[in-house]
Amino acid sequence: MLSHVTAVRYVTPLREGGSLPGLVETDDHGTYGTYVLKFTGAGQGRKTLVAEVICGELARGLGLRMPRLTGIVLDPVLGLGEPDERVQALLKASGGLNLGMEFLSGALGFDPLAHVVDPAEAGRVVWFDALINNVDRSWRNPNLLVWHRDLWLIDHGASMIWHHNWRTAETAAAKPYDASDHVLAPYGPDIATAAAELAPLVTEELLTGVAAEVPDEWLADEPGFDHPDDVRRAYVAALLPRAKTIHERITLPGAGPKGANR
Ligand SMILES: Nc1ncnc2c1ncn2[C@@H]1O[C@H](COP(=O)(O)OP(=O)(O)O)[C@@H](O)[C@H]1O
Ligand SMILES: [Mg+2]
Repeated sequence: MLSHVTAVRYVTPLREGGSLPGLVETDDHGTYGTYVLKFTGAGQGRKTLVAEVICGELARGLGLRMPRLTGIVLDPVLGLGEPDERVQALLKASGGLNLGMEFLSGALGFDPLAHVVDPAEAGRVVWFDALINNVDRSWRNPNLLVWHRDLWLIDHGASMIWHHNWRTAETAAAKPYDASDHVLAPYGPDIATAAAELAPLVTEELLTGVAAEVPDEWLADEPGFDHPDDVRRAYVAALLPRAKTIHERITLPGAGPKGANR
């Protein structure tokens, strides 16, 4: 399971995002850090955080750049002096364990007009997003950062739609991926090469290790499951077969019926 550090100061909200993540300082036995904190008490609920952990750790396991994740223990008292009522409410509702992501200081938001991505890298990112069914990497909302000239993936909270209804998960996880709006679609993503390289890495061992990182308390009391480990197995069961064939079911602009109509 993710290790954790303790928040000692709430610094500021990161306002670009919808979920109002915040910047916090932490103290891990005298070692200070700065993290982006995603609140357990945010309206989107704890499944957003589960998706962040599973997809973030999976990205890292596949060699994609993704800031390090950690648990962050928050004392709601830190919000007492916070003037913004929305932030204060979030802090109040999020006592205990939250999700932290290493803050990439000085990173820029990806701008399609200013940055060039080669087809190999675009292919890896689009293939990965197809695997996790990420609907939140469009040109409107890239959720990619450029840091020291490299591309970094963030924000996987809106992935794996199937985990919102486990009864239909098997069918949902077999569905195609529409990449027409993907921010990297215009860069000629080389999906075939990415799939040949990455799909063999998505093993049961890797997925089991990734699911093991999710804290028990975010998986507890999931309807239809007796134990957090059963929920972990359900994530593995959805992703493992999808990795093998999803490259055949990715729609890119101009390549499929939707793109051809534009
Ligand atoms: N690890 C990070 N390092 C630097 N900036 C970040 C990091 N994570 C998020 N941000 C900034 O915060 C914004 C919101 O974060 P994001 O994870 O996309 O949350 P939301 O779910 O609200 O969209 C991002 O667009 C980015 O500008
Ligand atoms: Mg975002």
